[in-house]
Amino acid sequence: MGKESKVNRRKFLEVGIFAITGSIAAVSSAALTRFAIGPSFKKEKLKWIEVDLEDVLDDSSSFGRAVLQYQTKHGWLARREKALAYIRRTEEGEIIAINATCTHLGCIVSWDDDAQIFKCPCHDGRYDADGKVISGPPPAPLRRHNTKIEDGKVFLASETVPYGGDKSESI
Ligand code: FES
Repeated sequence: MGKESKVNRRKFLEVGIFAITGSIAAVSSAALTRFAIGPSFKKEKLKWIEVDLEDVLDDSSSFGRAVLQYQTKHGWLARREKALAYIRRTEEGEIIAINATCTHLGCIVSWDDDAQIFKCPCHDGRYDADGKVISGPPPAPLRRHNTKIEDGKVFLASETVPYGGDKSESI
Protein backbone atom coordinates (compact mmCIF):
# COMPACT_ATOMS: atom_id res chain seq x y z
CA MET A 1 0.00 0.00 0.00
CA GLY A 2 1.57 3.27 -1.13
CA LYS A 3 1.62 6.67 0.49
CA GLU A 4 -0.88 7.96 -2.07
CA SER A 5 -3.51 5.35 -1.17
CA LYS A 6 -3.18 6.22 2.59
CA VAL A 7 -3.82 9.88 1.76
CA ASN A 8 -6.86 8.97 -0.32
CA ARG A 9 -8.33 6.85 2.47
CA ARG A 10 -7.77 9.62 5.03
CA LYS A 11 -9.36 12.14 2.72
CA PHE A 12 -12.32 9.79 2.14
CA LEU A 13 -12.83 9.32 5.90
CA GLU A 14 -12.62 13.08 6.53
CA VAL A 15 -15.22 13.83 3.88
CA GLY A 16 -17.48 11.00 5.13
CA ILE A 17 -17.34 12.19 8.77
CA PHE A 18 -17.95 15.77 7.68
CA ALA A 19 -20.99 14.72 5.64
CA ILE A 20 -22.50 12.63 8.45
CA THR A 21 -21.93 15.35 11.09
CA GLY A 22 -23.41 17.95 8.77
CA SER A 23 -26.50 15.85 8.13
CA ILE A 24 -27.08 15.27 11.85
CA ALA A 25 -26.70 19.00 12.55
CA ALA A 26 -29.13 19.91 9.74
CA VAL A 27 -31.79 17.43 10.91
CA SER A 28 -31.43 18.52 14.56
CA SER A 29 -31.67 22.22 13.80
CA ALA A 30 -34.71 21.68 11.55
CA ALA A 31 -36.44 19.76 14.36
CA LEU A 32 -35.51 22.43 16.92
CA THR A 33 -36.72 25.24 14.67
CA ARG A 34 -40.00 23.46 14.08
CA PHE A 35 -40.44 22.93 17.84
CA ALA A 36 -39.54 26.53 18.66
CA ILE A 37 -41.46 28.53 16.07
CA GLY A 38 -43.91 25.96 14.70
CA PRO A 39 -46.75 26.87 17.09
CA SER A 40 -46.66 30.50 16.03
CA PHE A 41 -47.74 29.44 12.52
CA LYS A 42 -50.44 27.09 13.75
CA LYS A 43 -53.96 28.19 13.00
CA GLU A 44 -56.24 27.44 15.87
CA LYS A 45 -59.38 25.46 15.25
CA LEU A 46 -62.80 27.06 15.45
CA LYS A 47 -64.47 26.66 18.83
CA TRP A 48 -68.13 25.77 19.30
CA ILE A 49 -69.65 27.16 22.48
CA GLU A 50 -72.85 25.75 23.94
CA VAL A 51 -75.45 28.33 24.84
CA ASP A 52 -78.31 28.04 27.27
CA LEU A 53 -81.53 27.13 25.47
CA GLU A 54 -83.30 29.83 27.48
CA ASP A 55 -81.18 32.36 25.56
CA VAL A 56 -82.62 31.18 22.25
CA LEU A 57 -85.95 32.93 21.96
CA ASP A 58 -88.72 31.54 19.78
CA ASP A 59 -90.22 35.01 19.62
CA SER A 60 -89.00 36.32 16.28
CA SER A 61 -89.57 39.92 17.36
CA SER A 62 -87.02 39.77 20.16
CA PHE A 63 -83.59 38.40 21.02
CA GLY A 64 -81.99 36.42 23.81
CA ARG A 65 -78.45 37.31 24.83
CA ALA A 66 -75.51 35.00 25.33
CA VAL A 67 -72.03 35.85 26.56
CA LEU A 68 -69.47 33.64 24.83
CA GLN A 69 -66.27 33.07 26.74
CA TYR A 70 -63.43 31.10 25.25
CA GLN A 71 -59.68 30.99 24.99
CA THR A 72 -57.63 31.58 21.86
CA LYS A 73 -53.97 30.85 21.21
CA HIS A 74 -51.86 32.93 18.88
CA GLY A 75 -48.53 31.13 18.75
CA TRP A 76 -47.40 30.91 22.36
CA LEU A 77 -49.82 33.59 23.53
CA ALA A 78 -53.09 32.42 25.13
CA ARG A 79 -55.88 34.96 25.53
CA ARG A 80 -59.29 34.84 27.15
CA GLU A 81 -61.92 36.23 24.78
CA LYS A 82 -65.45 37.39 25.41
CA ALA A 83 -68.23 38.18 22.95
CA LEU A 84 -71.88 39.06 23.25
CA ALA A 85 -74.36 37.57 20.81
CA TYR A 86 -78.06 38.23 20.26
CA ILE A 87 -79.87 35.00 19.45
CA ARG A 88 -83.28 34.01 18.23
CA ARG A 89 -85.06 31.26 16.32
CA THR A 90 -86.76 32.34 13.13
CA GLU A 91 -90.24 31.17 12.10
CA GLU A 92 -88.51 28.67 9.78
CA GLY A 93 -86.68 27.19 12.78
CA GLU A 94 -83.29 28.59 11.87
CA ILE A 95 -81.23 29.95 14.75
CA ILE A 96 -79.51 33.23 14.05
CA ALA A 97 -76.83 34.74 16.26
CA ILE A 98 -75.84 38.36 15.72
CA ASN A 99 -72.57 39.59 17.18
CA ALA A 100 -73.09 42.70 19.31
CA THR A 101 -69.86 44.47 18.33
CA CYS A 102 -70.54 47.59 16.29
CA THR A 103 -68.71 47.52 12.94
CA HIS A 104 -67.76 51.18 13.30
CA LEU A 105 -65.38 51.32 16.26
CA GLY A 106 -66.33 48.25 18.24
CA CYS A 107 -68.79 49.50 20.87
CA ILE A 108 -71.44 47.06 22.05
CA VAL A 109 -74.87 47.57 20.53
CA SER A 110 -78.11 46.95 22.39
CA TRP A 111 -81.44 45.68 21.13
CA ASP A 112 -84.41 48.05 21.45
CA ASP A 113 -87.53 45.90 21.65
CA ASP A 114 -89.92 48.82 21.09
CA ALA A 115 -88.14 50.28 18.06
CA GLN A 116 -87.08 46.81 16.77
CA ILE A 117 -83.56 48.01 16.04
CA PHE A 118 -80.02 47.65 17.38
CA LYS A 119 -78.59 50.91 18.72
CA CYS A 120 -74.97 51.77 19.20
CA PRO A 121 -74.39 54.12 22.17
CA CYS A 122 -71.12 55.57 20.88
CA HIS A 123 -71.92 57.40 17.61
CA ASP A 124 -75.60 56.65 17.23
CA GLY A 125 -75.25 53.85 14.69
CA ARG A 126 -78.51 52.03 13.97
CA TYR A 127 -79.07 48.53 12.60
CA ASP A 128 -82.26 46.68 11.72
CA ALA A 129 -83.26 43.30 13.21
CA ASP A 130 -81.08 41.49 10.65
CA GLY A 131 -78.09 43.60 11.62
CA LYS A 132 -78.12 45.71 8.44
CA VAL A 133 -77.13 49.37 8.79
CA ILE A 134 -80.05 51.83 8.87
CA SER A 135 -78.17 55.00 9.78
CA GLY A 136 -75.01 56.40 11.30
CA PRO A 137 -71.34 55.71 10.63
CA PRO A 138 -71.14 51.87 10.75
CA PRO A 139 -69.57 50.77 7.45
CA ALA A 140 -71.03 47.24 7.40
CA PRO A 141 -73.82 45.12 8.89
CA LEU A 142 -73.32 43.42 12.26
CA ARG A 143 -71.40 40.18 11.95
CA ARG A 144 -72.89 36.76 12.63
CA HIS A 145 -71.88 33.66 14.56
CA ASN A 146 -72.50 30.41 12.73
CA THR A 147 -74.72 28.09 14.72
CA LYS A 148 -75.30 24.37 14.97
CA ILE A 149 -77.67 22.08 16.83
CA GLU A 150 -76.27 18.83 18.16
CA ASP A 151 -78.22 16.40 20.35
CA GLY A 152 -80.79 19.11 21.05
CA LYS A 153 -78.11 21.53 22.23
CA VAL A 154 -77.36 24.85 20.54
CA PHE A 155 -73.77 25.85 19.78
CA LEU A 156 -72.35 29.13 18.48
CA ALA A 157 -69.08 29.45 16.64
CA SER A 158 -66.46 31.56 18.39
CA GLU A 159 -65.44 33.25 15.13
CA THR A 160 -67.79 35.63 13.40
CA VAL A 161 -68.60 35.83 9.71
CA PRO A 162 -69.85 38.81 7.71
CA TYR A 163 -73.60 39.23 7.21
CA GLY A 164 -74.66 36.89 4.42
CA GLY A 165 -71.80 34.50 5.05
CA ASP A 166 -73.59 32.76 7.88
CA LYS A 167 -75.25 29.41 7.91
CA SER A 168 -76.79 27.17 10.51
CA GLU A 169 -76.40 23.44 10.53
CA SER A 170 -78.45 20.78 12.25
CA ILE A 171 -76.78 17.51 13.19
S1 FES B 1 -68.85 52.57 17.47
FE1 FES B 1 -70.90 52.23 16.91
S2 FES B 1 -71.44 53.94 15.75
FE2 FES B 1 -69.39 54.30 16.30
